[in-house]
Formats: sequence, C-alpha cells, structure tokens
Amino acid sequence: MTRRPNERPPHTAIVGLQWGDEGKGKIVDLLTSEHDVIVRYNGGANAGHTVVVGSERYALHLIPSGILYPDKECVVGNGVVVDPEKLLQEIDALRARGVRVADNLRISDRAHVVMPYHKEQDAALEEYLGAKTASARGNLSIGTTRRGIGPAYADKIRRSTAIRVGDLLDPDYLRSRLHVICTLRTAELEALGVRTAPLDPDALATQYAAFGERLRPHVVDSVYALHDAMLAGRSLLFEGANASLLDIDHGTFPYVTSSNCSTLGIPSGTGVPGHAIGRVLGIMKAYSTRVGAGPFPTELDNELGQRIRERGREYGTTTGRPRRCGWLDLVAVRYSAMVCGATGIACTLFDVLAGLDEVRICTAYRLPDGTVTDRFIPDAHRLEGVEPVYETLPGWHEDIREAPDRDSLPEAARAYLARIEAVVGIPVEVVSLGPERTQTLVGGRRAAALAHA
Ligand code: IMP
Repeated sequence: MTRRPNERPPHTAIVGLQWGDEGKGKIVDLLTSEHDVIVRYNGGANAGHTVVVGSERYALHLIPSGILYPDKECVVGNGVVVDPEKLLQEIDALRARGVRVADNLRISDRAHVVMPYHKEQDAALEEYLGAKTASARGNLSIGTTRRGIGPAYADKIRRSTAIRVGDLLDPDYLRSRLHVICTLRTAELEALGVRTAPLDPDALATQYAAFGERLRPHVVDSVYALHDAMLAGRSLLFEGANASLLDIDHGTFPYVTSSNCSTLGIPSGTGVPGHAIGRVLGIMKAYSTRVGAGPFPTELDNELGQRIRERGREYGTTTGRPRRCGWLDLVAVRYSAMVCGATGIACTLFDVLAGLDEVRICTAYRLPDGTVTDRFIPDAHRLEGVEPVYETLPGWHEDIREAPDRDSLPEAARAYLARIEAVVGIPVEVVSLGPERTQTLVGGRRAAALAHA
C-alpha cells in the first residue's frame, strides 16, 4: 500500500471473496480517498453497504458509498440493474441528511431497469419453487432477496422484454415497449398463480417516465465517461456488489445471484478492459457467513454459530435476515482470490473472533469417496457432499479493537493472519478491528480518521 509521493494509485477493484456481506462498504469507504471515481459494475438493490461515519450510519444499496465525499464522482455502470424507485429514495434520503447528490452521481443509460413486475415475479417464483415443488423434488427456491434481480437480468438476456435506463427518458418508446411486455408478463404471472388484475402499461409508463425525468440529470453514456476519466488521469475504484461465490458463472450455482460479481464482471459491466485494473483487494471476513439457501461446508449450526452471529451483528442490511455463520473456509477464499486476480486481502470483522479458546480454518475438503482436495467445487450439488478438513489454531481473549498496529496484536491473532497469507498466497493488507474507520490496520498500522462530507 506504500506509494511514492505524487504517484497515482492504480485503478483498483474491491471485491468480496466469500458469499457477501464481507464489510466491503467500510473498505471501499477507506480507499475512496485515494481515488477519483467510484464505480459499481454489477448487481442491484440486493446489495447493501453499511458505512459508519462518526455517529452516523449510512445503509446504501445502489449508490456507491463514495457519494459521502463531495469531491468524488460515483458511476453506476451498465452491468447494474437499477430499481429507479429505490434509487430515488436513496437519493432523497442522502439529500435529507445533507449529502450532495448532483452531477457527482452518474448512471449508465445502458443499465437495465428493475420494474415492479420483476419483484412480483421474483417472489412468485420463490414461492412456487419452495412450496409447489417441495414435496416432489425438494425445495428448489434460491432464497433470493426478492428485489427482482434475477427476473431483470433474465429480461436483459431475453432482450425483447428488457427496459434500460435510457428508455425511461423516451416516454413514447417506453409506453410502446410496456404494452407488449405487460401482456406477456401478466400471462406469466398468472401462470405462477399470483396475479388477478392485468398489469397496466399506461400507468407504469407514466410512473416510470416520471422517474426517468427525475434521473435525467444523472444519466450518461458511462462507458465514455469512464474512459474520459481515465484519459484525464483520474483513478477509478471498482466496487463489487454481492460477492465472488455468488457469481453466476463462478459461484455455487444455482445458489448464486444473476450477475458476474467477481472482478470478471468489471469489463462487461463497465466497458473498462480488465488489464486497466492494477490492484484487486479481496475482502474476506475472519469467518464465513451466507444468506439464503445453498451449500456452506463450514457452517456452525450451533451455539458457536449463534455467538458469531450476535457478536458480528450478522443480520442482512437489505433484508434483515439472520445470516448463517461458520468457520473461515480458505479453500473457498483461495479459489475466489484466484478467479478475481486478488493482489491483497482485507480481513474484516477480525474482532468478532476474540474470546474463543481455539479457532478453526478449513484448508481442504474431504469428498464422499474419502479423497481430500484443496480445490473448491463451484457446484452446489457436489459441494453439498464435502466435509471440511480443519486446522485448529489457538484463540485469543484480548479485546483487539484499539490495537495500534499489527505487531501489537496477540500472538495467536497474528498467527491466524499469517496462516491466511500462507494458504491464500497473498498479503493481508488491511485488517478491520471494528466498525469505525480508525479501527482498521492498513499496511500494518492504524488508519487515520479521515475528513468527511
Ligand atoms: P438475488 O441476488 O436476490 O437473486 O439472490 C440470490 C442469492 O444471493 C440469495 O441467496 C441472496 O441471499 C444472495 N445475495 C444476493 N446479494 C447478496 C449480498 O449482497 N450479500 C449476501 N447475499 C446476497
């Protein structure tokens, strides 16, 4: 993390290496001061970032947390699915708290729109797959956030039924598309047994054109905007939403989200080529959590898991659901770090592990046939059958939240970090010891409090 004076930071990506909720918001916030433009490339309002500034707590879903700095630009890239109603609520809530949201927020005209029928469809499919198929085939629901993410991306792939942010600015075009889409969608929702009244394309067109009008000052061709920024020597910080093990291609399919949340989503989700990114900081908790359904080899479905949940406040920012908790799975983290090209790690919620006599790290899986592998299995059905192989390390009892540097951490805590570095093969550059900015070790030393909006 040490740079020569006046040296520009490289374009950086921040990405979660587990199943989400790794505390990316705080790390993004920390690195924001070193960059000029903060860019979202994937996902939608299914993500939730919490940033604590003094006594203020900000929960952001669509807008990058860089918005809290008046001199930074925030870009919502083309790979994001935007729920305009939620986005406007977020803008209004920020403004009500005195945060400037003007030309510092730019939204891609090519980002796809999450419509109300996507949310209806998301919930209806979850119910259908949970209840209706449960007896015959087991529960096939994913445990989605029901924010309409999957159906919106499905429409993007289907093309003819998609709406993009740019379409909201052209009311006649929007209306004509909605007339066709609503007929189809009403039939699909009826088939799932949830809709009685047909969708009203004219009412939706009026409402969404009005949202478009409010968003118009922010809507840009984000691909050119980002390339212009790079040409002007400005540095970009890419903020991954959700996390690598939820990546549609590389995660624990089918228990994943619908976008490329790993750094591989950056080129397609922003139009910036991958080789432009010089640094990838992978964020991992000192333990593991997961929300929703899907395999979780190191899950602690017991008192210890409950203790981690309470100490780590492991309840969803977006849905409030209790998160499933377990030991650190380094097979999974090493795999995500490989796929993302991580150059360093930020280990978050490290303070939560204090107070245990011993701690465990999973470094391999035992397969049903008895063989042992250190390779991850990005397939839910096959991953269900593995047993974690653990290393047991001594725990520590000291409160480490105010530790001034890495060297003054208890020996067992230092050994835990060293083991992560040895197994994953990259340095732990940042250690988060609590929710405050200052409760962070960056390059081994305590981070300074930063001037803020
Ligand atoms: P969806 O993204 O709402 O379709 O949900 C798909 C799966 O991804 C569910 O298990 C969600 O709980 C999970 N998920 C999506 N976004 C996040 C996130 O930001 N953190 C944690 N889990 C997430």
